[in-house]
Parts: sequence; structure tokens; C-alpha cells
Amino acid sequence: MIGVLREFVDLEPKPDDFRTEILSGLSTTPKTSSAKFFYDDIGSHLFEQICNLDEYYPTRTECEILVEYASKIRTILPVGATVIEFGSGGTRKIKLLSDALPTIKSYVPIDISRGYLLQTATTYARDNPSIEVRAICADFTNVIELDDILDNSPRVGFFPGSTIGNFTYSEALKFLRYAAKTLGPGNFLIIGVDLEKDIEKLISAYDDKLGVTAAFNLNILTRINYELAATFALDLFRHKVLYNNKLSRIEMHLESIREHEVRVDDCYFNFDIGETIHTESSHKYTIDNFIHLANDGGFSVLDVLSDPDKLFSVHILQVS
Ligand code: AVJ
Repeated sequence: MIGVLREFVDLEPKPDDFRTEILSGLSTTPKTSSAKFFYDDIGSHLFEQICNLDEYYPTRTECEILVEYASKIRTILPVGATVIEFGSGGTRKIKLLSDALPTIKSYVPIDISRGYLLQTATTYARDNPSIEVRAICADFTNVIELDDILDNSPRVGFFPGSTIGNFTYSEALKFLRYAAKTLGPGNFLIIGVDLEKDIEKLISAYDDKLGVTAAFNLNILTRINYELAATFALDLFRHKVLYNNKLSRIEMHLESIREHEVRVDDCYFNFDIGETIHTESSHKYTIDNFIHLANDGGFSVLDVLSDPDKLFSVHILQVS
């Protein structure tokens, strides 16, 4: 039997929202661009390539944890659940979770990358005919109203990959509180969290030898050129990665190699030599710090799963 996608809810951010956010990010000091904007069609594919890199340990390690602890996860989670995934990307992790949880009633992938979501959700639905798949294209850094889409089966939120690392502490708190409210008391959230570690290992994960992460970072300029008729010259910027010790986070920047001016739509922006656009932060946690955040966000921690080298962690949370 071949399954079909039951529903595709299109709440994709409008081109005007992209324009407004990019222009305002380029108008601040330092200049910034939100990490969510990496994920156009090309960006989503480049990110999948990153996940396959030797240096990029998070994907591989999280998958190992999900496989290793599948039976443990199975005993904790409810049967007949609706799994809501925030940032479903290439859907490789729901496939592992579905193995741990063979009795999923429905799957609700949420992703900002419209074309990629349509393709991956359709494929997942086709391959899993017993699971009802309802995809939502949306920016989950804003509140998404899910009540019309969800029924009253038990809800399991799934937020793998340490995507929560893109948020500051207060943004993460806001997200968790919203997730707790959407999931409802007694329901669950399975969340992947990258851990603090040796700085060299972190840097090489974000500055790989093949230059895939550099291409991923620079692609935001191509996207702005294309969607906002901008004049970024890609050879005037370089991929820059640093570890911000004080804030326990990797930062990705695009650094201008000389002074120049760029037009974006009807606005002009000056870049000094060495000036950067801060394009992504990826916060790293200790297990204790994350437990504290989860509790603050309205969850109790049922279990913390990790790999033998303590590179990555998967937290099983329950809405208090
Ligand atoms: C998808 C946000 C988890 O921060 O590790 C990977 C994105 N950026 N390499 C991360 C990313 C550069 C990734 N997250």
C-alpha cells in the first residue's frame, strides 16, 4: 500500500517578511541575519550534506543515541501518539523514532523550507501508509496554532538536532513554554541538545575541510541577491567560525574582506574591512544547564540519554 500526504498547511513566511527582517538585521550593529533564513531549497540540501560530514558529529551521534535507546524510549512514550516535529528537514530522525515507537498514529512535520517539506513529507507519507501525515510549512520561532490540525491523541513533540541551540536562553525558554502549552499537561517532548566540549572539535564541526558549511553560510547572500535583488559579491565575504566562551556558543559570521557597499532592494549598506554579518549562533549546554532550562520552560525531565563520549544528549521531557 502507498500512503498519501493528508494535509499541507502553508504558513510560509511572506517575501515581505523576509525583506523586512533582512533589512532590519543589516541595519543593526553588529549586522545579523536569522539562522532560519538559511533554509531555502538550496540551503536545506546543503544542510543535509553537512549532516553527512565526518567533522559534523551531532547528526551521527544523535542517531546512534536514538537507535541505542529505542526500547527505552518505547517504554516511556504513549501508544497511538501524534508526533509533532519542529524542523523536520530531511526526516532521517523521525524514521529512527518511528522504529522506537511503532504505534505512531500521525506525524506532523513542521518546517520553514516549503519545497523541501512538501517533498520529504510526501515521501514519508508514501513509505508509511499507516501513519497520517499532515505537514505544516511555518516559522516555529513564532507561535503556530495547532489546535485545528491536531486531534485528541497523546502528543509527542520532537525537536532533534540541537536546533534549540540556535536560540538564546530567553528565546529557548519562550519556545519551551509555547511547546508545553501546545503539547498539553502530561504529554512529551523529545529534544536533542548538543553538549559543551573541546573547542577544536566544535570549530571543525562548523568549519569543515570540504567547505560545505562555508557554502551553506554564503548561500544566504545568494538567497538575498536572488529574492531581494541585492548586489552581494560572494568573493568579498568569507566564512568565519568562532567559539564564544562567555555565551558557550559557536558563532558563524560572514566577514567582509574589504571595505565596500552593497545594495539590498532600495537600501545601501556599508561594510568595513573585517566587519561581519552574524548569521548563526549554536549554543552548547551542559546536561545540568539544560535540565534547568527545561524545568523553567514547564517540563520535568524523565530521562537524559547520551553517547559514551558525552558529545550529545537526548532529553525525554514531560509537560508538568
Ligand atoms: C540545525 C541549528 C542544529 O547549529 O549545528 C550546522 C545548523 N550550522 N552547521 C547547528 C548548522 C552549521 C545546526 N542546527
